[in-house]
Amino acid sequence: MPGKVILGAQWGDEGKGKFIDIFAGEADLVVRSQGGNNAGHTVVVNGETYKLQLIPSGILYKDCVNIIGPGVVVDPRAILKEIDGLAAKGVSADKLFIDARCHCILPWHLELDALSEKARGGDDIGTTKKGIGPTYMDKAERIGVRMHDFVGGRFEEAMREACARKNKVITGVYGGDPVDIEAVLAEYRGYAERLRSHVRDTTVMTYEAVKSGKNVLFEGAQGTLLDLDMGTYPYVTSSHPVSGGCCIGSGVGPTAITEIMGICKSYTTRVGKGPFPTELFDETGDYIRKAGGEFGTVTGRPRRTGWFDAVIARYAVRVNGLTELVINKIDPLCGLPKLKVCVAYDFKGERLTEFPADFADLEHCKPVYEEFDGFTEDITGCRSFDELPVSVQDYIRELERICGCRVSMLGVGPARDQVIAIR
Ligand code: IMP
Repeated sequence: MPGKVILGAQWGDEGKGKFIDIFAGEADLVVRSQGGNNAGHTVVVNGETYKLQLIPSGILYKDCVNIIGPGVVVDPRAILKEIDGLAAKGVSADKLFIDARCHCILPWHLELDALSEKARGGDDIGTTKKGIGPTYMDKAERIGVRMHDFVGGRFEEAMREACARKNKVITGVYGGDPVDIEAVLAEYRGYAERLRSHVRDTTVMTYEAVKSGKNVLFEGAQGTLLDLDMGTYPYVTSSHPVSGGCCIGSGVGPTAITEIMGICKSYTTRVGKGPFPTELFDETGDYIRKAGGEFGTVTGRPRRTGWFDAVIARYAVRVNGLTELVINKIDPLCGLPKLKVCVAYDFKGERLTEFPADFADLEHCKPVYEEFDGFTEDITGCRSFDELPVSVQDYIRELERICGCRVSMLGVGPARDQVIAIR
């Protein structure tokens, strides 16, 4: 493993959590490097269900060190709620460390996320309303409150300054009600006290672990097509879920990374708005949504569903430098007579094999499909490639060929052991 990245190769929700959990068991350090509590995954260990949003999955392993790297935005209230939830299940957060450089998501960011979405009218992004975008905006504007301010001697000064500035925007631009700073200070002072012991320069810890050859797992959140630069802008998140984002967001150089695993589902989903060429609006789409349980972990929203898009998968292979691909959630396709894979787009009569840079072009892309035989056998008990029905084996081999990347693992059910490793 030494430095392994696990990331989403589609629009997020690929089921990364399960694979991250599998590898977290072997990791000395698990590092989150971007996003915030807009992410969400469920891990089932020994029959107990854990819903993690910000805290790395390694928290469920006693000896694993868990790092929230400098590129992550941290909501103090949300992370403490998560810490308390874990404590109630007997899971300690003693080995959880938050980088001093992380920007804090504060009440005005939540307010501004909601107000700016509302102001966009029908043209909203469909954000998770967790304050992610407004926090990264403040970071880029160089007016944010970082963790070292929050838990340090500048707490009150930094909070008052930020709130005053943001209240001008809330009231002046959006006509909203100002945030009551006294109430915020009273509530958040306690959060700062509680978080202080977790805050440090985590980049030193990550570097030392890499240097001494320990197993370091970089846990991705969201997915390639939600990347601020490489995704379907403007319908994206405000961070960098691509592999390059791992380095900036954890403070280590690219040489720390030795393996980059991209997780796909055997079909495609997306939440929120934006173009989606293989989206299904018929009963096949409903069938996949139901069979795959495609409803948001964070928001509960039904996810949009569609066929596997190999143009997207190839794009993910290229922009992330993937060394391996995982095809997750194959079992929900059981019972469909034919499986379709989009191999190219028809763009106004022209055949496109590369993902377009402009989402307006993507809106005019019609999928060009190849069809494969479906399967009716229950594959959830299969644990080796050879046990799979021949049509599934063929489907995977074809995906490997079309995507141009080795498929190293398959997911055939929600449990941790419902995976097939391909040698
Ligand atoms: P934000 O990250 O809350 O700003 O939302 C921006 C876009 O990213 C919206 O379309 C969200 O639905 C999407 N998004 C954010 N986090 C996730 C995730 O973990 N999975 C899938 N979509 C996400």
